[in-house]
Amino acid sequence: MTIEPRPELGLLPPYVAGQALARLQAELGVDRVVNLATNETQFGPFPAAAELIRRHAGEAHRYPELDGDLIRRIAAAHGVASSHVALGNGADAIIGYLCTAYLEPGTNAVMGAPSFPTYQLDTIKTGATPVVAPLRDGAFDVDALAAAVSDATRIVFVCNPNNPTGGIVSADELRRLIDTVPDRLLIVVDEAYAEYVSDPAFPDTISEHVMSRRNVVVLRTFSKIFGLAGLRIGYLIGQPDVVDAVGRVRHYYDVNSLAQLAAIASLDDPTEIERRRAATATARGALAGELDRRGLRTFPANGNFVAFERPDAAILEAGLLRAGVLVRTAGDVVRITVGSTDDHARLFAALDTLL
Ligand SMILES: Cc1ncc(COP(=O)(O)O)c(C=O)c1O
Repeated sequence: MTIEPRPELGLLPPYVAGQALARLQAELGVDRVVNLATNETQFGPFPAAAELIRRHAGEAHRYPELDGDLIRRIAAAHGVASSHVALGNGADAIIGYLCTAYLEPGTNAVMGAPSFPTYQLDTIKTGATPVVAPLRDGAFDVDALAAAVSDATRIVFVCNPNNPTGGIVSADELRRLIDTVPDRLLIVVDEAYAEYVSDPAFPDTISEHVMSRRNVVVLRTFSKIFGLAGLRIGYLIGQPDVVDAVGRVRHYYDVNSLAQLAAIASLDDPTEIERRRAATATARGALAGELDRRGLRTFPANGNFVAFERPDAAILEAGLLRAGVLVRTAGDVVRITVGSTDDHARLFAALDTLL
């Protein structure tokens, strides 16, 4: 006899372990696998962060605190009080905390698609329903989101810039959305790639909205420009009642202490953030230019990735994989992480054979 889990689990994809790159390299018989599928930075952790991890490795037997120095450092970096900051085991986990705290069967969450899959998956896990609005030019369409809101809606997710397509919701558009939807809804603005954005139209959501509106929260992560994806740490900035709700549903020791130390060291180095932003923007422009030149019309890119649409996206992904180049697809969208010049050369050679 099998023990049946909750029926909602039937709507979720099973966990599929990622391919270890070394194993994949042997299987494909290529000299190197180029991973342009996971939006990691090519620059690794900040040097000071790696050094702190080494120095404090001997303290790993101690349980972490979740209200220590990092909260104060993040609060200071954004000009808010510590009571407005919550840490999580990656921004991914914070999305789950918010769904657990605010959704239940009979309610829904509104989001664009294609976008970061966790919004849909974590909504389903609570027994609530994801309601999906179409994108416009690779960005969340605030009017489509507002039109999808109903009496049952509890959360509206805004992915800005959007993963996988890369487009942004401008400051004007975000203001329009926040002014339009009822303020009983939680508006979750996921800014995982914010540090990469240089478009002046990009909103300063924290200073413009989070401190003046009860219902707007921002998610940030140390996984992207800060290069700590493997340590799992992200944060939320919002009103103290949301921070309190997150604290109630989060596991007691969810954010490990080495991640917190590494995050503090990363915040201490604005020069390195700027260096990475500038280098990524240059490489992103070059990558998009080469893809466009091959007739792959790329969306405006604002994160550390470039995307385009093709009806045969899955076939292209499989062909690139055979050549040892990993990219990510979501339906017709192909997303390629900005890599090194070498990585890109490998990608272009594979594309030229396939196209
Ligand atoms: C839009 C978006 N939000 C959240 C996350 C999750 O970030 P983390 O690694 O902090 O869980 C990602 C990671 O890819 C992302 O693309």
